Amino acid sequence: MIRTIGKVFLFLLLLLGAFLWMGQTITAMTGGEKKAASIVEITPEGGETIFWGKGRCFTCHSLGDQGSAVRCPNLGQFGEKFLMPIGERADERAKERSEETGEKYTATDYLVESLAVPSAYVVEGYKDEMAIVYAPPISLNLNEIKAVVAYLQSQGGELDLEAIENPSEISAKYYARISAATAAGGGDPGAGLEVFDDNCAECHKVQDEGGEIGPNLSTISLKGLKFISESILRPAKKITKGYETWVAVDTEGRRTTGLKTRDSATEVDITKANGEVVTITKTDIKEMEVDEGKSIMPEDLVEAMTVKDFQDVQAYMMMQKSESE
Ligand code: HEC
Ligand code: HEC
Repeated sequence: MIRTIGKVFLFLLLLLGAFLWMGQTITAMTGGEKKAASIVEITPEGGETIFWGKGRCFTCHSLGDQGSAVRCPNLGQFGEKFLMPIGERADERAKERSEETGEKYTATDYLVESLAVPSAYVVEGYKDEMAIVYAPPISLNLNEIKAVVAYLQSQGGELDLEAIENPSEISAKYYARISAATAAGGGDPGAGLEVFDDNCAECHKVQDEGGEIGPNLSTISLKGLKFISESILRPAKKITKGYETWVAVDTEGRRTTGLKTRDSATEVDITKANGEVVTITKTDIKEMEVDEGKSIMPEDLVEAMTVKDFQDVQAYMMMQKSESE
């Protein structure tokens, strides 16, 4: 029995080690990517090499009679179904998106959106199966995506490098999403939101949604990826001020562990990790102190997550930088 517990413990340690190693590798990788980013030029030619190469677009899309993929929308002019190549088609889509959302979409905004959040608009007759091209295994960076947009514009549309370089509000939001994702090792922030809802939202608010046990995470990206990563892997390593773990022992020897959420002249409230609030009369307290080595945030959260979940939730965290959005 004891040997089994020992083994389980050893396994957990190894798992934690693996995650820490991964975190560092991710940081190293994204640092490396920044250098590579300057290589692709934001021109139709730059985008062409991505489309038929690293971006793997050709494995799903053909362009007119170029390429042989048939299961996804043709991005050129083709047959009855695709009367306009994508550059021109984007104008039509932009009109549809403007009507749907009430925001003013340009053709460039539509193209950026189709790469940043493909599920925002799903082409009729197709499934929501477009790859997140800035997540693994494709992992395009923002520059490469801008180049691809230039290439798509040049397919029958108006090449507008100005709109790519100085994005509208809509495109800028999508750029931020792509940057956040690549900064977090290429996680998918959309999938990360679901991981967050399942594992974190009971304690943390983002904007106005979520629990109140832990700190509000609406601006957490400002603390950087390394901080976020370590907060999830080893919550107790650096306890956020005001969220210390208190342990109160009453005169009958009962222990209550949690955050001190109220401290009046006669009583204290301890909020436990499950949200339950325990009120203790001060005269009943025998001992009350902070446990420096413990966080209310569970140490074993990562065990319930896959490596992808972990990357995705970090990408979602890297998107949180404003109180009101
Ligand atoms: C795994 C297959 C797959 C890969 C890889 C892929 N796509 Fe797609 N793409 C789709 C599918 C399926 C759709 C249709 C569903 C939708 O609209 O989201 C689509 C839709 C699109 C659209 C919208 C077309 C329209 O008519 O409005 C554009 C633009 C696009 N993809 C560009 C790209 C580019 C550029 C790449 C490479 C960087 C790429 N796709 C990689 C599957 C893929
Ligand atoms: C049971 C409640 C609980 C759950 C579940 C939980 N946390 Fe926490 N979290 C806390 C508390 C309490 C703190 C503050 C104490 C500390 O720093 O360890 C905290 C701190 C943090 C911090 C540091 C915040 C700062 O500004 O210093 C981050 C980042 C974080 N949590 C992210 C997450 C993520 C991501 C998840 C889900 C994968 C998660 N938490 C799940 C309770 C929780």
